[in-house]
Amino acid sequence: MKQVLILIYVICFWGKLHAQETVDNVKQTEISQKVEVLLAKMTLKEKIGQMNQYNGFWNVTGPAPTNGGAAIKYEHLKSGQVGSMLNVRGVAEVRKVQKIAVEETRLGIPLIIGFDVIHGYKTISPIPLAEAASWDLAAIKKSAEVAASEAAASGINWTFAPMVDISRDARWGRVMEGAGEDPYLGSKIGYARVKGFQGDDLSKKNTIAACAKHFAAYGFAESGRDYNTVDVGMATLQNTIFPPFKATVDAGVKTFMNSFNELNGIPATGNAFLQREILKKEWGYKGFVVSDWGSINEMVAHGYAKDKEQASELAANAGSDMDMESYGYVNHLEKLIHKGKVDIRLIDDAVKRILTVKYELGLFDDPYLYCDEKLEKSVIGSPENQAAVLDMAKKSIVLLKNEKALLPLNKKGQKIAVIGALAQDKNSPLGSWRLAADDNTAISVLEGLKNYKENTITYAKGVVLTEGKTDFTLETKINEDDASGIAEAVALAAKNDVVIMVLGENGFQSGEGRSRTTLDLPGLQQKLLEAVYEVNKNIVLVLMNGRPLTINWADENVPAIVETWHLGTQSGNAIASVLYGDYNPSGKLPMTFPKSVGQIPIYYNYKSTGRPTIPAPNMVFWSHYIDESNEPLYEFGYGLSYTSFRYSNLKLSKSTFKNGEKIILSCTLTNTGKIEGKEVVQLYIQDKFASITRPVKELKGFKIISLKPGESKEVGFIIEEEMLQFYSAKGIWEAEEGDFNVFVGGSSNTILESEFELVD
Ligand code: NOJ
Repeated sequence: MKQVLILIYVICFWGKLHAQETVDNVKQTEISQKVEVLLAKMTLKEKIGQMNQYNGFWNVTGPAPTNGGAAIKYEHLKSGQVGSMLNVRGVAEVRKVQKIAVEETRLGIPLIIGFDVIHGYKTISPIPLAEAASWDLAAIKKSAEVAASEAAASGINWTFAPMVDISRDARWGRVMEGAGEDPYLGSKIGYARVKGFQGDDLSKKNTIAACAKHFAAYGFAESGRDYNTVDVGMATLQNTIFPPFKATVDAGVKTFMNSFNELNGIPATGNAFLQREILKKEWGYKGFVVSDWGSINEMVAHGYAKDKEQASELAANAGSDMDMESYGYVNHLEKLIHKGKVDIRLIDDAVKRILTVKYELGLFDDPYLYCDEKLEKSVIGSPENQAAVLDMAKKSIVLLKNEKALLPLNKKGQKIAVIGALAQDKNSPLGSWRLAADDNTAISVLEGLKNYKENTITYAKGVVLTEGKTDFTLETKINEDDASGIAEAVALAAKNDVVIMVLGENGFQSGEGRSRTTLDLPGLQQKLLEAVYEVNKNIVLVLMNGRPLTINWADENVPAIVETWHLGTQSGNAIASVLYGDYNPSGKLPMTFPKSVGQIPIYYNYKSTGRPTIPAPNMVFWSHYIDESNEPLYEFGYGLSYTSFRYSNLKLSKSTFKNGEKIILSCTLTNTGKIEGKEVVQLYIQDKFASITRPVKELKGFKIISLKPGESKEVGFIIEEEMLQFYSAKGIWEAEEGDFNVFVGGSSNTILESEFELVD
């Protein structure tokens, strides 16, 4: 009976899936017919117009172009020479420009309105690197849904997210915007975020088109300096950099953005191998590619194009469908087509891709679909959205150290000193990509802590972190001189039981254009920390930052360290609930914390080299440094809990298998502590030898397991041939026969180990 029921269920489920597929196919066919009809009516100028995107009149997220005043933009809008605008937001503003496009142009084609909704719109979620630390795909998807619902209610139809650039270099300021160093975790998160933004139906009022960026290899900028040269081999490109992008294509992402960097001598924007060969041909991607801000023109500075006209030719031919703020297509494409330098079929292809997304968004049915003032008022900042970002914020926190059982704090009878400028900062937790958020709207740590009323809490700033404006300008100056507040902080610390020190980076010390050469606590904060430590050793260091930091001294001396990143609107509430133990932290680092900047690039899935270990005592001939160990400060996947876990009993259902078969791996996880907790159980595999060398281990699966004190659970993973595939010496994705090690544990420093063989 049970089997019959299961069969009926499977048939119904399959039937439903199939029916959905048929509906989707019919819809797609209808859309492509409409696109063809419209295209046939368009003049060349109008087609090129669809490929032209202008910045609005408000936020600026790149260098202002020299040839684009508001007057020209309005003129082009009216003559149908603009297909998209970015940085126009709010129903009233969007309605204004949409009205021109729809009511004043010959064909009335609606604009697609883009915006950097990177981690929330007005209700701000944790920065993406923080969200990645949760490893919680459902929560991450939810956070993207919240962001989409607010942006869509405010007139926006398209976000420039997710950024799925893998990076192994914490000096690069944009690590805050991605999911860290690992292609597997990055792929899962990229997939979840696309699904969250786009939902099941793009034409709904609460979904927006996503954009996978920056294609490709932007996170591999030499020396971590933003926009710098990238030179990586094919194996790294294929095995490390591409997978998260491919995952977004699998998730149905509607748009891609190319990148500022050159890749092995060819700027990504003019790179046909990336955009035509890999993305559109090999992966069968149907959406469109937008350039990054001004990146078409930047090919002149790169030394790849002789002038803007040639840059436009190279970009169009290479598969960049839309020009963001270069004024290249609008000024030169027509000429280039007449000269025979760009084939009209490429223009038609680009325009079809753009129009298709506009149809899918429902903009042709109702260009003002996303312009609903009532919705704008009710959705933005709603209690449900606040609850979702609070949940995400708690899940993003990583406990790095907890000795002397300093945490969680007692809820009563403790005298607590809170020290550090960031403790009362209501702006920094919003991070640097918070264009639509109102300034100073985050709950500060101090505010969050004060909700726990039965302790006495006193505050001292200690040192000022930065002076001047904190925004996209460079006026911010780090305070390196004024130490006058340290004495007051020290005196306060001496009088209290526990000191909570909130130190790190402000919201604009990471992000675009914010590369650093050191990863120490900026300014005088280290000095402050050491001075306080002299009088009170019961320090809980609450780190607030957008990238891994080298906090070696703190790790050696401070008993408790909590990584809180930039957690968004609900930051202080999330931090307080973790510090007081109302939420047991379970986050795990998505990026390695180095001991020294000199170790960078540092990542867990490195290659062995031919000399991985010391051959004999005192022998110098092995791969190491003479002044630092090879080990990181905190490894990828690391994070503690207020409880403890034991891993045991690793079993494999077989030790040899073939393609088409499976190995079932299981192990036992036990909560050996006194409170309930969650653990991210991680599965890693090493391909021991192959046609190209493989990493010492690679993440291949993870599960979040919740356990009561004393409880045990069996945790299972399935090992299949597909997960052993890589880009091999043959230049294809395949799994090669041979021996594999398999590891399980609560970080990339795994605990359990076994092996298996793949045979022919
Ligand atoms: C430049 C950034 O690189 C990109 O990520 C962003 O989406 C655009 N500016 C638009 O603001």
